[in-house]
Amino acid sequence: MSSIANKDGPRIRHVVDDGAPYETIGVDKLTPIIGAEITGIDLGKTLTNRQFDEIHRALAENLVIFFRDQHITPQQHLAFGRLFGELHIHPAAPHEEGEPALMKIHADKNSPRANGEGWHSDVSCDEEPPMGSILHIKQCPPHGGDTLFASMYAAYDALSERMKTYLAGLNAVHDGEPVYRGLYANHGIADKPKYPRAEHPVVRTHAVTGKKALYVNRGFTTHLVGIPRDESDAILNYLYDHSENPLFQCRFRWTENAIAFWDNRCAQHRAMWDYWPHTRYGNRVTIKGERPF
Ligand code: SIN
Repeated sequence: MSSIANKDGPRIRHVVDDGAPYETIGVDKLTPIIGAEITGIDLGKTLTNRQFDEIHRALAENLVIFFRDQHITPQQHLAFGRLFGELHIHPAAPHEEGEPALMKIHADKNSPRANGEGWHSDVSCDEEPPMGSILHIKQCPPHGGDTLFASMYAAYDALSERMKTYLAGLNAVHDGEPVYRGLYANHGIADKPKYPRAEHPVVRTHAVTGKKALYVNRGFTTHLVGIPRDESDAILNYLYDHSENPLFQCRFRWTENAIAFWDNRCAQHRAMWDYWPHTRYGNRVTIKGERPF
């Protein structure tokens, strides 16, 4: 791995996969293209620079990384997130009392819905959508409640050259309004006057790896800019179906006190709500990102 400081913050480095072995962590891939379980690390302890660099490299290489048996406090969870950048405050979702950056993820027998049930990239409606999200699940249902992740590098790479040419330079609108208005009423959360809306390139370049990723999702993307609506709907529906090919995916089976850390710039995810009437509960810490390019 080679690492050089860049503008994202003092501890964020450019990461290049040169196949060098990891020295401070174990990295056990779930699939060849997405997902890896990280072993040999306690996220409650202060990380050395080497451990931090290797976790960052594992994220860049695998898009989503998983840690099991992490008995960390909310403050340790927040501190781990801050190593990767400033924390993002969700525009709508409930958070733990006094900790706006500690989002609640909770579904039980009284829930009308669960968070993240459709394929999406977190808060892609923001002008500067989150770079990554770190979910710590503290209570699991006896079965189910998995999270699925999909590589948007793989989705982009598998497009035809004709489609890549068509998409080059196109922007799409991502709108929080139809998603968030009224969504958290059951948590007693009043709506904001307005929710974020932004235009982003349909194909974005990852700031760390330099790779191209498809950046439209069923959750937030409403239409392609400057394209007739019927054509835009047809193209977007094709891209969503294409992105959801199981070949691009991994699926994580949660255990209590496991953590998933995903990169929203190049991966989408979807939570399964197949465990009603059981309870699934945890917290998410989300890291700010840059404007997609
Ligand atoms: C989300 O952050 O979108 C929810 C993910 C999950 O609950 O697995």
